[in-house]
Amino acid sequence: MESPFKADIVKGKVALITGGGSGIGFEISTQFGKHGASVAIMGRRKQVLESAVSALQSLGIIAVGFEGDVRKQEDARRVVESTFKHFGRIDILVNAAAGNFLVSAEDLSPNGFRTVMDIDSVGTFTMCHEALKYLKKGGPGRNSSGGGVILNISATLHYTAAWYQIHVSAAKAAVDSITRNLALEWGTDYDIRVNGIAPGPIGDTPGLSKLAPEEINSKARDYMPLYKLGDKWDIAMAALYLFSAAGKYVNGTTLIIDGGHWLSRPRHITKEAVKQLSRAVEKRSRDKPVGVPTSKL
Ligand code: COA
Repeated sequence: MESPFKADIVKGKVALITGGGSGIGFEISTQFGKHGASVAIMGRRKQVLESAVSALQSLGIIAVGFEGDVRKQEDARRVVESTFKHFGRIDILVNAAAGNFLVSAEDLSPNGFRTVMDIDSVGTFTMCHEALKYLKKGGPGRNSSGGGVILNISATLHYTAAWYQIHVSAAKAAVDSITRNLALEWGTDYDIRVNGIAPGPIGDTPGLSKLAPEEINSKARDYMPLYKLGDKWDIAMAALYLFSAAGKYVNGTTLIIDGGHWLSRPRHITKEAVKQLSRAVEKRSRDKPVGVPTSKL
């Protein structure tokens, strides 16, 4: 799909994207690169990183891959420093690395719960913590260009509750808190904008194939009126907006990009039936004599 944005809206900028080798993270890397940014991607799997970097380079994007696990502070520090050494500045950190699997609360071990908290929540904070030095106004490589941007990929699961996702719901709730608190503290002190994106079900991603395998997916459509899949492109366009100058006054928000999916409710009654019913109820209450108990009617 063609981008509605100018090809140079993030020209000369440098992006560090965790989980940038696959899924939503890779699409964000691609779109940032196509709009002029140089891209460093961080991931645990060497092969995935290598093939992602060569795919980006084949599009003419300046890209580099750094192996690392966001759960390890020494990896976070090394990758942030390597990105700075390689490109001479860092303008945006995108925390897209995430862990996920479906499991009922009773079958989830505390270590399984902790593992996802460690990747999503602690990992996001660790990356922000290590990147602060380079993102803050006046930091290395920033000259007079103001502070940088942080973008955290979240979810909508925790707005209500989600079956078999207690660990991820808890982790993403923490991510949203990190977004707001850093927006307050680092927005005020360092001119860094911190925002989030909460994607709905996005097609062709590792997340979707893990969390909504086809057999679940087809059933979900029956009881979720707004169920439709988004594209990775939808998320990347929002990321571009938040990264670019167009988003310069946006700080501390988590943008929901899900086609309204999280608002889905089953329709218990058709529009026609509700019209009839509602009129009948009105009529009954109009006809009811004042002061006569319902039991006597
Ligand atoms: N069901 C229940 N528990 C599970 C599980 C599953 N499908 N997968 C892992 N766990 C538990 C393990 O049993 C273990 O707990 P235990 O020690 O009490 O047995 C704990 O989680 C850690 O598992 P381990 O395999 O050691 O973790 P890992 O670090 O190798 O893997 C995952 C991390 C499990 C989150 C892995 O799925 C991952 O990294 N995925 C990344 C990609 C991804 O999911 N992307 C989509 C984002 S939406």
